[in-house]
Amino acid sequence: MTIRAKIVGTGSCVPEKVLTNKDLEQMIDTSDEWITTRTGIKERHIAQEGENNSDLAVGAARRALEMAGIAPADLDLIIVGTLTPDMPMPSVACLVQKELGAKRAGAMDISATCSGFLYSLSVADKFVRCSPDSKVLVIGSEVLSRRTNWQDRTTCVLFADGAGAAVVTGARGENGIVSTHLHADGSVWELLTIKGLGTAHPVDESILEKGWQYIEMQGRDVFKHAVKALESVAFEALDASGWTLEDIDLLIAHQANIRILEHLRERLSLPKDKVFINIHKYGNTSAASIPIALDEANRKGRLKAGDKVLMISFGGGFTWAGVTMKW
Ligand code: UT7
Repeated sequence: MTIRAKIVGTGSCVPEKVLTNKDLEQMIDTSDEWITTRTGIKERHIAQEGENNSDLAVGAARRALEMAGIAPADLDLIIVGTLTPDMPMPSVACLVQKELGAKRAGAMDISATCSGFLYSLSVADKFVRCSPDSKVLVIGSEVLSRRTNWQDRTTCVLFADGAGAAVVTGARGENGIVSTHLHADGSVWELLTIKGLGTAHPVDESILEKGWQYIEMQGRDVFKHAVKALESVAFEALDASGWTLEDIDLLIAHQANIRILEHLRERLSLPKDKVFINIHKYGNTSAASIPIALDEANRKGRLKAGDKVLMISFGGGFTWAGVTMKW
């Protein structure tokens, strides 16, 4: 009998503080109307002082473990997709491991920007299929607000904070992850960056003056690459799974822009109720966007046993990914 890696619990956690478009109107030269029509975002959650990536990751993890009925001590591996770790060393995953008391678990971060959760889920899929009794905690978690230039209206209205998690273990039968697809194109890395504060450009006055500690994005170019890559990986994942467009019960795509989601809906000929959208409430939370959406869909009863779910993501690097699963 087939053994598949199956998600048996989901959770999410966002900071309490909500920043609305109206709030942003008081801070920079922008308008609720521009942000809503160009991006679909109405509000987003922003971490407060002392609230870190690992805190959000732990919050999401606890909820996912509770739903799964799995104790932290039984975890074999913790993987965190993130581009905004608390610090370069240790990983967010190690901080989560300590906080949960997941004593047996290995722990690592995966740096794949907005595709961080799907990259991590793909690793969990292979791990669990080699060792079906193992239990893997997969998290996407970000505090992008601390890498955002709050004077730059082209980026600061977009990015936000949050975390989502999934617990994965082996299950006999057809339900679970069906196929995973990872892609990258480093040749265009300069279109979406945080150039500074790594080892190439360590902290120094000139780096801070240039604003290289912040996200910089050529939005229009990124948009064009994103729609092409997302569409292509969606068809690739469907083909590999032997599914048709009509088979899709729910599309969960990275929440970067409502116009990208609308474009995908048209290209994949999907009715509105089959495309999950929560960008209006959370903005772009990078690696956290898909697991937050997955948890919301799950808790709202949008996922029924056997439903065919397609998840696709795109982000800096560039990286893009697709995962199909039978719920
Ligand atoms: O998560 C990783 C992947 N990221 C993405 O996929 C994001 C992809 N890109 C996008 O979503 C869009 O390109 C943005 C939302 C970032 C920008 O939307 P756009 O329709 O591409 O706008 P634009 O950059 O072409 O700017 C149009 C105009 C410009 O003014 P001019 O030059 O036409 O006078 C901007 O200065 O809108 C102006 N603008 C703003 N106006 C009010 C840019 N940001 C703002 C703002 N408020 N916040």
